[in-house]
Amino acid sequence: MPIDGEIFKQLGRAAAGAVSVISAYDRTGTNIIALTVSSFATLSFDPPLAMFAIQHNADSYASLVESKAFGVSLLDTAQVEVARRFSCKGREKIEGFKFDQGIVANVPLIPNALAHIECSTDQNFPSGDHAIIVGLIEGSRTREGQPLLYFARQYGTFKPLATV
Ligand SMILES: Cc1cc2nc3c(=O)[nH]c(=O)nc-3n(C[C@H](O)[C@H](O)[C@H](O)COP(=O)(O)O)c2cc1C
Repeated sequence: MPIDGEIFKQLGRAAAGAVSVISAYDRTGTNIIALTVSSFATLSFDPPLAMFAIQHNADSYASLVESKAFGVSLLDTAQVEVARRFSCKGREKIEGFKFDQGIVANVPLIPNALAHIECSTDQNFPSGDHAIIVGLIEGSRTREGQPLLYFARQYGTFKPLATV
């Protein structure tokens, strides 16, 4: 028998995750869609693939399932407000925000992120109330910095343990 919803939520709170923004153009090619996720992960080395999961009731769901390309911006600790902004609903979160433009794929990206990853959409797998979206990594840039993490409903960062 599967676990109940409350236990599932506790489990979600116990799993720390890096915070990213997934961004893309919608099917018209003019409107940007963007949402905060903690489900981004690199997947395959050869070919280079990455993935994230999106819930069915996200406004961005249809656009991302149908997308040809998407961008991933791994956020820095200085970007908590960006994470909050794109975890909201509504067009206001997009309007007035100045996105960078991808270099190799037609994707919007968050300026000053720790990493920019440009993917062509490869496959999607509906799974429960989410879909797993897999992208072929066509371009990637990283810089030094402190990653923004989410744990127990709070934003934080990584601190290495002292070694003995
Ligand atoms: C730290 C954090 C991580 C999140 N991770 C995900 C995720 O992995 N997948 C997802 O679908 N939503 C995730 N969300 C929720 C979406 O950001 C939120 O539902 C957003 O409003 C969706 O935007 P949209 O409806 O404009 O698509 C996360 C929210 C937060 C604050």
